Amino acid sequence: MKAIVGSDHAGINGRKNAIEVLSQRGWDIEEKGPEASEDRADYPDIAHLIATAVTTGEAQLGVLVCGTGQGMAMTANRYPGARAAVITDAFTAEMARAHNDANIACFGERVIGQEQIAIHLQTFLDTPFEGGRHEARVGKIDKVTGGA
Ligand code: RB5
Repeated sequence: MKAIVGSDHAGINGRKNAIEVLSQRGWDIEEKGPEASEDRADYPDIAHLIATAVTTGEAQLGVLVCGTGQGMAMTANRYPGARAAVITDAFTAEMARAHNDANIACFGERVIGQEQIAIHLQTFLDTPFEGGRHEARVGKIDKVTGGA
């Protein structure tokens, strides 16, 4: 199973922590983003790479870290099949998987810090999709028709 993990300059430490968690669990990992905070990177450029890999099936999981997680999720969710969730705590980590079958976990390093990113990613990875009534709801996410 392959995970692709990316960040901009505001999420480098969280990205490294996420890679640590994933490598301990035996994931094959591809990493995108700058190595130093002085090397500015625009979050959409990174999110496009990660969302492309996940929605084409090249990777089974994406992790994105920026200052807030929001810009990464906004960009990734433009891709049909991407289910990018901004995770802020244990509950959103669990629900993003159990109810939404999220395939991209987004974190804000300036919001929750690098240690919490590692903790909530563990919860995200440990939580299976519940399926059942949530299956049809998740199936409707890509049904963009302009009306209810
Ligand atoms: C970068 O300064 C910051 O805007 C970015 O990391 C992120 O928070 C955007 O959503």
